[in-house]
Amino acid sequence: MSLRSFIAKAQEAGYLVTITREVDPYLEMARVINALDGQPVLFTRVKGSPYQVVSGLCSAREYFALDLCMDQSQLLFALVQALGNPITPQMVASAPCQEVVEGEMDLNTLPILIHLPDDGGPYVTAGVVIVKDPDHGRNMCFHRLMRIGPRQFAVRVVEGRGTDTALRKVSGELEVAICLGNSIPVLLAAAMSPPKGVDELSIANALRPTPLVKCRSVDLEVPADSEFVLEGRITRRSVAEGPFIDLTETWDIVRQQPIIEVDCLTHRRDAIYHALLPGRLEHKLLMGMPREPSIYAAVSQVCQCKNVLITPGGMSWLHAVVQIVKQFPDDGRKAIAAAFRGHTSLKHIVVVDEDIDPFNPAEVEWAIATRFQADRDLIVLEDRPSSSLDPSATHILGQKTRTSKMGLDATIPWYKPTGELRTREEREEFKKVGYEEVDVAVYRTFGEKR
Ligand SMILES: Cc1cc2nc3c(=O)[nH]c(=O)nc-3n(C[C@H](O)[C@H](O)[C@H](O)COP(=O)(O)O)c2cc1C
Repeated sequence: MSLRSFIAKAQEAGYLVTITREVDPYLEMARVINALDGQPVLFTRVKGSPYQVVSGLCSAREYFALDLCMDQSQLLFALVQALGNPITPQMVASAPCQEVVEGEMDLNTLPILIHLPDDGGPYVTAGVVIVKDPDHGRNMCFHRLMRIGPRQFAVRVVEGRGTDTALRKVSGELEVAICLGNSIPVLLAAAMSPPKGVDELSIANALRPTPLVKCRSVDLEVPADSEFVLEGRITRRSVAEGPFIDLTETWDIVRQQPIIEVDCLTHRRDAIYHALLPGRLEHKLLMGMPREPSIYAAVSQVCQCKNVLITPGGMSWLHAVVQIVKQFPDDGRKAIAAAFRGHTSLKHIVVVDEDIDPFNPAEVEWAIATRFQADRDLIVLEDRPSSSLDPSATHILGQKTRTSKMGLDATIPWYKPTGELRTREEREEFKKVGYEEVDVAVYRTFGEKR
């Protein structure tokens, strides 16, 4: 299913907000998207551009579930399955994304938003960048793109990611394809970090058939269903990129970043541009949710993992709750170490038992209150490589950011303070005691309001 078939589905399900009044991509559109955060919104009349704009299609888990035709509770397992079993996509000779081919084009015709008055420029925020690594093949990754000319972008390339490693291996320019207006499987796969050599487009294809087409001017393949494809080169020149609001909702620092030269634009005849509001729900969910399967896979190697949630309070990137079925006394500690391997940007992890709902913060806190002892169950890791997005971490220009990390094993302790192993019955005593359910209607007085 393409972006536009999701829009149709969202409309049918009553989720889509359609705005027919003209809206300006300079500041105004970002304010409207912000006011409607959590809802898919389609702008049909965009000031200065012939294209429609959509936003918010990934701003709630239920929209992913709607697109992938499954229950929300199945999403994690569908992603785990696709990540572990990629399927090579089929190649097609002609594609909707190449209905119009523009050699002589101007990026100013695209409805690229300026989100805030202090932004470094108009920013493409939902652009999926495809390059070829000389050793590992195709790599697909999100990169924000600041328009700096009619055919130029500054691209933010985080150190150590697929695009960065490919760029370091070539001496000259690196061919690039930037896909805008992608299907949900492509967006999810682009946000994953599978092991080197695993093709993200094959993961998208395992989620749902994602045929590819050859680009017109570069030796790359792109999803045939994309709305727009920009073909070009990542040059060896750089420029100041930013300011830009990141996931933290704070200003990211301005850095020297590579310049992309765009040579060709292909698109659907009535292409729809996807604008993702930085720092808001869609940005957060797309960052965090696709990392849950890699945490799940890593934890599953050391114990029985039941569920994983990257929590919204940790800006959907730094904090996770891992739910396990504890079978050995040290499973909680092992799960912490594995979860840090599964998502290297994680900073704080809480591990809970299967009776605790990871989606309920009060239950997770209850587990910490009743099962956790800091001197026994807290793991602190000092001075570790970490996320560049954490303002409190140590940032040294040109070096990997470093931070302290913490894991809380909030599972039922199998050892007593005396060192003796608790019996199964004694461990059961840590569980909440419930009351038997009754039908309250039977007890209410006739005529009572509540
Ligand atoms: C909305 C969104 C925006 C992102 N922006 C950037 C970016 O500007 N630069 C970057 O290097 N990574 C960015 N990322 C993160 C990468 O897409 C993500 O970490 C990806 O999985 C890296 O894959 P790789 O390690 O295979 O290259 C963004 C992710 C999302 C979801």
